[in-house]
Amino acid sequence: MPGSLSLCASRLLLLLSLLGAVCGAQAFTIGFAQSDTAESDWRKANTESFRESARELGIDLQFKDAGGNTEVQRRQVQELIDAKVDAIVLSANEIHGWDGVLLRARKARIPVVVSDRTLALQPENQDKGLFVTWIGSDFRYEGRAAAAWLAQESGGHCNIVEIQGPPDAAPSIERGKGFRDVVALFPGMKVIASRPGMWRAEQAREVMNGYLKQEGANICAVFAHNDNMAFGAVQAIEENRQLGLKPGKDILIIGVDAVRHGFELMQEKKINALVECNPLIGKVVLKVVTEILSGRSVPPRMYTEDRVYTLYNAAAALPSRRY
Ligand code: AHR
Repeated sequence: MPGSLSLCASRLLLLLSLLGAVCGAQAFTIGFAQSDTAESDWRKANTESFRESARELGIDLQFKDAGGNTEVQRRQVQELIDAKVDAIVLSANEIHGWDGVLLRARKARIPVVVSDRTLALQPENQDKGLFVTWIGSDFRYEGRAAAAWLAQESGGHCNIVEIQGPPDAAPSIERGKGFRDVVALFPGMKVIASRPGMWRAEQAREVMNGYLKQEGANICAVFAHNDNMAFGAVQAIEENRQLGLKPGKDILIIGVDAVRHGFELMQEKKINALVECNPLIGKVVLKVVTEILSGRSVPPRMYTEDRVYTLYNAAAALPSRRY
């Protein structure tokens, strides 16, 4: 009977809204501008963390993926502004070029939270509060931790090849700087070559092939700015059988992220150390956004906690690894 059905539906709606009021829940629409999900295991886990947390928190997540193209990502942020979302989370593909679109978000009174990747704004815009807060890992610490582990392992004597992320991405810049901060303390350590592998295993494999041709057995270690590029380096060393070099033994391999497959390769003794960078930040970021939308103030910077894994603690950590 349509009459009793609609009565039933309206009672249900009333009940749901009462429940919402009691639990303090409110359905927010939040835009998430992701840089490039397909690029690495880290980013796949990061995207999934946002999707899953949004479902759990009852948030309508408007997801955009820029496929690693900053111009596209800027357009996507503008689309979120035009769609009048309640807030925007930005995980920026590159560090520069955000001033214009963030000024427009501010004009539209849409708060922006920066997730994982930091931004470099023009000096005149730095104090304008173009984003409310940043939440993520300390990339410079990650670079320092990688170099500190290597200094200890190599006794402070090592020719290092570096496989970077894209040149204008925050983690490439900061991890590179942090790494060099520590390398500079050891006269016997040297970064002998440095090229971008764009976060991807296949590109890193090509870069490593080039390094092996040029430097061969002169290479003591690879510092890969993420795990997927470390996987590419391992593959290249194994494919160049004629050189007789073994990854993890003749060439030390260090990655950043600490994804599950990295642990597996560590157990096979092909990777020596992984510096963690936690991608499972969807819930904390979305909760902070709801705090902001509920009118509460939040700190301007929030760091996640990361650690270093080596063969000594990898086996114990692997079973509970969630990404
Ligand atoms: O910003 C975090 C970095 O971005 C991760 O190390 C990497 O895998 C990703 O692309």
